[in-house]
Amino acid sequence: MSNIPGKVRIVEVGPRDGLQNESQRVSANVKVELIARLADAGLTAIEATAFVSPKWVPQMADNAEVLTRVLGARRAGVAYPVLTPNLQGFEAALEAGAEEVAVFGAASESFSKRNINCSIAESLKRFEPVTEAARRAGVKVRGYVSCVLGCPYEGEVAPRAVADVAATLLDMGCYEISLGDTVGMGTPLATQSMLETVIKRVPVERLAGHYHDTYGMAAANIFASLQMGVAVFDASVAGLGGCPYAAGASGNVATEDVVWLLDGLEIESGVNIERLVDTADWISQQLGREPASRVARALLARRRMSISAN
Ligand code: HMG
Ligand code: MG
Repeated sequence: MSNIPGKVRIVEVGPRDGLQNESQRVSANVKVELIARLADAGLTAIEATAFVSPKWVPQMADNAEVLTRVLGARRAGVAYPVLTPNLQGFEAALEAGAEEVAVFGAASESFSKRNINCSIAESLKRFEPVTEAARRAGVKVRGYVSCVLGCPYEGEVAPRAVADVAATLLDMGCYEISLGDTVGMGTPLATQSMLETVIKRVPVERLAGHYHDTYGMAAANIFASLQMGVAVFDASVAGLGGCPYAAGASGNVATEDVVWLLDGLEIESGVNIERLVDTADWISQQLGREPASRVARALLARRRMSISAN
């Protein structure tokens, strides 16, 4: 347990990864309010939107409006990164005021093709001008690698393929590489074995875990990653979401589940669980359903029980 960090940074991806897959239209007002509520709960990194093609992801078509409004009411000390798949997306993000962007590649050729319509090598070439332009503009760049523990189209993915893409993104100037278990197929020992290979090429302080919870393994994989020294995790309030180009994938691990785990381990995250549950409840009501998070549901049930007992 000696490697376990005392402090963890949570990158909230609900407004982007969570909502990108939502079939009902979610208004810019709801997105902007969600982001404000997440900041109120103590989150200091909130992925706000994606500057991707509206034909590919219609839910993110209001990207410029959302980012401009969020930055207009920004909280001190909170970062609002956005996804940019190419230079066109980067320029639009910069125009809307972005100070941090993320490029997203994959360790699986089939997923790369389905998600961003190019091979892994082509995607890396496409990210070079983005990281170059970002450097000139003083914009921070985060890198994602998808399918690090399996691909919905190819099945197993070799840890070496993950390490190759992660190391290339690091060399390109990404300050952090987020490792995505896009379909949530991973289990703890597979996670540790993938991390062992990646850490040989990318220092652990530059890695983040981005685990989807399709098979209910995300919290276990986070614990396995904490034991390897990983101290940054992506999560989505109320467990919102999934990837539109990863058939069968459900949402990211719920932020409430991560905070509950960290609180139990006495690892500092800066997030207030009660306020976070309020936010999970609020966004779930907006979407007309219960939070997917076990922790949110349990804490909401506990609140209802204590109200009826009083
Ligand atoms: P393409 O069709 O190959 O693009 O798509 P193109 O360069 O040939 O251009 C075609 C049209 O798209 C043109 O418009 C461009 O202007 C437009 P037209 O002339 O036909 O009217 N276009 C754009 N419009 C807006 N913003 C842009 C942009 N670029 C081109 N940035 C492209 C290539 C990358 C654009 C497309 O495949 C795309 O947008 N893909 C995004 C898919 C996506 O957002 N997936 C979900 C996010 S990734 C994820 O969830 C995984 C992650 O969470 C980690 C994990 O879980 O593993 C990060
Ligand atoms: Mg994701």
